[in-house]
Amino acid sequence: MRRLIALAFLAATALSTAHAARPIRFADTPPNAGALVLPLGSADELARRGSMLDPATRDAVARALAAADFRYRANSKLSLRGLGPWSQILIVGTEGDGDPAVRLQEIGGTAAQETAREDGPVTIVAPDGIGGPAAAAQIGVGAYLGGYRFDRYRSADPERPRRAGEEAPLTILTPQAREAEAEWQRGGAALAEAVLFARDLATEPANILYPETFVDRTREAFRGVANVRIEALDVAAMERMGMNAILAVGRGSERPPRMLIVEYRGAEGAPVVLAGKGITFDSGGISLKPGNGMWAMKGDMGGAAAVVGAVLSLARSRAPVNVVAIAALAENMPGGGATRPGDVVRAMNGRTIEIINTDAEGRLVLADAVALAEQRFRPAAIVDVATLTGAVSTALGDEYAGLFSRSDALADQLIAAGRTSGEPLWRLPLHDNYAEDMESRVADIQNVVEGGGPGAGLGAHFIGSFVDRTPWAHLDIAGVDVRNSGTPIVPEGMAGFGIRLLDRFVRDFRAVPSAGDR
Ligand code: BES
Ligand code: ZN
Ligand code: MN
Repeated sequence: MRRLIALAFLAATALSTAHAARPIRFADTPPNAGALVLPLGSADELARRGSMLDPATRDAVARALAAADFRYRANSKLSLRGLGPWSQILIVGTEGDGDPAVRLQEIGGTAAQETAREDGPVTIVAPDGIGGPAAAAQIGVGAYLGGYRFDRYRSADPERPRRAGEEAPLTILTPQAREAEAEWQRGGAALAEAVLFARDLATEPANILYPETFVDRTREAFRGVANVRIEALDVAAMERMGMNAILAVGRGSERPPRMLIVEYRGAEGAPVVLAGKGITFDSGGISLKPGNGMWAMKGDMGGAAAVVGAVLSLARSRAPVNVVAIAALAENMPGGGATRPGDVVRAMNGRTIEIINTDAEGRLVLADAVALAEQRFRPAAIVDVATLTGAVSTALGDEYAGLFSRSDALADQLIAAGRTSGEPLWRLPLHDNYAEDMESRVADIQNVVEGGGPGAGLGAHFIGSFVDRTPWAHLDIAGVDVRNSGTPIVPEGMAGFGIRLLDRFVRDFRAVPSAGDR
């Protein structure tokens, strides 16, 4: 019965997403037609594992591999057509190191990308000795992530003629098919779909996705999920609570801001709070950005999508954790009511801010979000996630997200989760001098230091100064959340960065000493 409900839920969410994806299946008997994906680490693996190929086809594959000088390195691939009954035989290399779960996801992603235009079914043969059903389910996760394509607004898509629900399945061939299917239902599908949820939100244009519709989409995604409580603070509520920092950012827009709170209680004890920057469009405000590339600021809510997505994944898979997502949602526009450079506002915790530059708005909305987190939830830790600065991508490119924390224990846990989830972090400093650098002429703090400096660290310091005693870390994902070139599991475009990382981090979280005890 539980399974039936889960399946019905999956069907319902599939309809509301903006992408077509093949349904994932698991089987223990080989197919005899369609596209076949064979991950191989060496030439003799073909002899051992290519048993579903007839001898003539297997010989032809062996000759093709030799002729192409195929090296079997991870993510290398060779596509063969016209052999035996198969519409395509895709060989994917598996040789190399790296986290095993990530490597399996990459096989799934490469398979999904290379077979996207196949009409019929696709079968991936699970690689040798992969270590059980959970590993097989990782291939499914990778296939969902790598095969993602946002096609909601394409009238006719030559790359993907089929719509959601019409795709032939992608089957993972494994001896423990039933157990793998259970693993997929238990967590893999929830994780993958949460990432796609975040990518959809970040890709949606800002005329469709603004604070109120972000809230609507979130409520829709959580419909029927147990032990979840969702609350959205509107402008009146935020005024009562003194959240003038986020209100200042939203003031120049026709679209009112929201503070969205999603609680999932799968365990007792103090929660981990994940706070996300949710600027549904960042024009810069009165400190207007230049036109070139401004369109990409429709994705300036990637942090909010990541924290809500992580809680969606944890809640749907019934993880034994207590976690809260706070999405600080606002549109940063230069309307007549907009905040001016030089304006002073009082944040929720009473600190005053001189807004020197209205384009440094993410730290403003997060100032109220982290203060709310600390006051309302007395959390075990606060992690904020934000597309905060261009400076972080200058420093770290799209290889690492920036990590800032004054707690070594918390930073270490995040770095470990980054490594095993395939979403790596690089720690950058938070020097005590940043406090002086950000001293205001008229208020407690100013929101930027004009004329440069360590931009990503100053932004981090600003947010951290609104946390009193809770262990806190800040992830600057501005460099990693939009990709100009694809990888096997992240196609070009909005990456949905942080959900795999945060899902791992929250599941493995161990309490760390609070600031006062250090
Ligand atoms: N949303 C931007 C940061 C950003 C830039 C994200 C490029 C993704 C790609 C942020 O609000 C911003 O404008 N930051 C300023 C800060 C500056 C005014 C101190 C920046 O990085 O220039
Ligand atoms: Zn921004
Ligand atoms: Mn900005």
